[in-house]
Amino acid sequence: MTISADLLKPVLQRLWHRLQTGRQQLATWLQPDHLAQLRPQIRYQAAVLGGFALLSALLLGLADLSTRSVIQSRLEDDLKTSLEEVIPADRYDNDLLSSSITVDSTGAGLGAAETRIYLARKQGQLSAVCFKFIAPDGYAGPITLVMGLASDGEILGVRIISHTETPGLGDKIEISKSKWVLEFEGKSLSNLSLELWNVKKDGGVFDQFAGATITPRKVVQAIKRGLVFYQSHQAELSRAANLPAP
Ligand SMILES: Cc1cc2nc3c(=O)[nH]c(=O)nc-3n(C[C@H](O)[C@H](O)[C@H](O)COP(=O)(O)O)c2cc1C
Repeated sequence: MTISADLLKPVLQRLWHRLQTGRQQLATWLQPDHLAQLRPQIRYQAAVLGGFALLSALLLGLADLSTRSVIQSRLEDDLKTSLEEVIPADRYDNDLLSSSITVDSTGAGLGAAETRIYLARKQGQLSAVCFKFIAPDGYAGPITLVMGLASDGEILGVRIISHTETPGLGDKIEISKSKWVLEFEGKSLSNLSLELWNVKKDGGVFDQFAGATITPRKVVQAIKRGLVFYQSHQAELSRAANLPAP
C-alpha cells in the first residue's frame, strides 16, 4: 500500500503545528515569573521531587545494566581462581565452572541451606569436588572457606575466601599470612578420627595461634562439618559426575 504525498502533507503539517504549540507552551511555563508563582505550591515541589527520583532511578538502572555483565564475569574469574587453588590442575580435564550440582545442606552447619558442589572429572570419572561453605561463628564474624576434596574424601586444599578476624591474631588463617591452612592437606575422616578434628588445645591435632584459639577452632570445626557433609553425599555426587554432561 502506498500513501500519497497529498495525504501525508496535512498530517505532517498538523504534527509540526502541535510541536510548535507545545514548544511555546513549555517556554511560557518555564518563564521565571511563572516558575516563581508555582514554586510555593506543594504540587510543584512534589513534581520536582518525583522528577528527580525518576531520573535517579533511571540512572541507577542504566548503571546496573551496564555493569552487570562485568561484575558477573569478575565473580566467575574469582570463583575459578579459588577452585584452581584447591584442586590441582592435573586432577581434572573438564570445565569446573560448568560442572556443578546444588545439594541441600540444611542442618549441615555449612552456613547455607544449599551448597553448590563443583565436580572435577578425569576421563569421565569423578576425581575431586570443591565447594564453598561458611564457619558462621568466627571470633569476629562469619568466615567463608573453599575446600577441594579428592573423590575419596581426602583434603586437597583449603583456602579462606573472606573473614573479619583480627589482624595479627585470627588472620593467620589466610594463606598470605601463614601456612597454617596447609595443615589440612592430605587429611580425611578416614585417616584422622573424628575426635582429632580439633585444635591441640581441645585434644586435636591442629595448631591454634598464640593468644587466638577461637578462630582456628571454628575453622577446624567447620572443615570437619564439610567433610561429614561430603561423606553423606559421596555416592550421589559420584553418580552425578559420571552422567554425561547435559
Ligand atoms: C581486641 C581483641 C581481638 C581478638 N581477636 C581475636 C581473633 O581474631 N581470633 C581469636 O581467636 N581470638 C581473638 N582474640 C582473643 C580471644 O578473645 C580469646 O582470648 C582467644 O581466642 C583465646 O585464645 P587462647 O586460649 O589461646 O588465649 C582477641 C582478643 C582481643 C582483646
